[in-house]
Amino acid sequence: TTARITVDPGFVVGPVRRRTFGSFVEHLGRSVYTGIHEPAHPSADDGGSRTDVLELVRELGVSTVRYPGGNFVSSYRWEDGVGPREQRPVRLDLAWHSAEPNTFGLDEFMRWCVKAGVEPMMAINLGTRGITEALDILEYCNVAGGTAVSEQRRRNGAERPYGVKMWCLGNELDGPWQVGHKTAHEYGRLAAEVGRAMRMVDPDLELVACGSSNTGMPTFGEWERVVLTETYDVVDLISAHAYYWEEDGDLGSFLASAVDMDEFIAGVTATADAVGAAKKTDKKIHVSFDEWNVWYQTRAESKVPEGADWPVAPVLLEDRYNVADAVVVGNLLISLLRHTDRVHSASLAQLVNVIAPIMTEPGGPSWRQTTFHPFALTARHAKGDVLRVSVSSETYDTARFGAVPVIDAVATHDEETSEITVFAVNRSVGDATRVAVDLRAFGDGSVIEALELSNPDLTWHATAEDSTSVLPKPLADVKVESGRLTAVLPPVSWAMIRIS
Ligand code: AHR
Repeated sequence: TTARITVDPGFVVGPVRRRTFGSFVEHLGRSVYTGIHEPAHPSADDGGSRTDVLELVRELGVSTVRYPGGNFVSSYRWEDGVGPREQRPVRLDLAWHSAEPNTFGLDEFMRWCVKAGVEPMMAINLGTRGITEALDILEYCNVAGGTAVSEQRRRNGAERPYGVKMWCLGNELDGPWQVGHKTAHEYGRLAAEVGRAMRMVDPDLELVACGSSNTGMPTFGEWERVVLTETYDVVDLISAHAYYWEEDGDLGSFLASAVDMDEFIAGVTATADAVGAAKKTDKKIHVSFDEWNVWYQTRAESKVPEGADWPVAPVLLEDRYNVADAVVVGNLLISLLRHTDRVHSASLAQLVNVIAPIMTEPGGPSWRQTTFHPFALTARHAKGDVLRVSVSSETYDTARFGAVPVIDAVATHDEETSEITVFAVNRSVGDATRVAVDLRAFGDGSVIEALELSNPDLTWHATAEDSTSVLPKPLADVKVESGRLTAVLPPVSWAMIRIS
């Protein structure tokens, strides 16, 4: 049977937000060292940035980059990473049982952001630290000069302030693995006071309170309620983090991961709105989905070092993504887009080497994983407004989510160029699925470009030697007649159809 997708310009969810296409660089494994930063690499510029990586970051279309963690930030002293390099201390990184050489820090990151054309999103340490240190880093970043800490920045070579708008008040403090883990009440009070003080420096900051680390956390829901009860007036956003992977060969549930993301967003916004209603305020809290991806947490690459071994930039979390993983990443972007009314920011975790779309060899090449492609294409072609589409599709049974539609889709519409882009996935493991897209509300239309990502061998993944055997390719037999588009989506595929 045919799945029916109806697209109508009248059903606008909200604007496509560039910040939906953010990513994340943590001091973790080879994300920074031999990832974005490798002074001895043949492609490195004066600042030690790998220019081959910078090119891929730009091609990926990343908007904001969250930094410097992640779990790392919860015992990090940002001052260690600024000033003359030879004076910077080597520290224990408790989160990843590694040694942090601090040869890359805040100023290097800000310079890298300019080169990459991305907006920095800073996370501050609320694990081991508090108000004073938060005010210091804010002063360092955003105060023009004339004060102790802002002058320190100027002495370190940054004449002008960085003007960082987005600040995460800590990271995953609901998690017992976090250094300085707190109860919701403890964290909510601290975040409220830190945020209030930061706004005294700059009332226009956009502040993110920590939400839950995933929907499976025992405190999910109640954490958001308590934290927002404390911080509602002070913050703009609450974070959500989610990682998905194929568990015990259950591909069907894995392919439906976006169902969990949809429910996560619905749960967080419902809780936020309930807190807002009780406070009798019109203010809405939005979601910063600032960690999301596929991550095989049980694989050997994810095991952190132990005992007396505290390596610098070890190989950690270097997941190799296959075709099914790329389809799930494409579907998670569909979920983020369809919630553009409430998800105002998101970060693919992470950017380079660590659960990343971009991989590097130390001293060698950089290359794109399968997950690079749906992200880059969505970031490039989702423009204008997000449209709520109606999808009528067969369902299949999953162990985790019950009956789930085989086809999932979202569309964007750019009024200026009259371009409509449909992003869709076919989650069927065995069957190609015929889709009929009703575009009659736009009049007629013709296809500008139609691409799909699939492969008979779902386990294919890119390597440094071969990263191009499976790439997005033209979607066969796409036709539009009298405002009705038909196409056949291969099994386990992600597709993008551009129409004007
Ligand atoms: O992105 C990897 C880790 O996942 C981050 O450090 C942490 O915030 C999350 O648990």
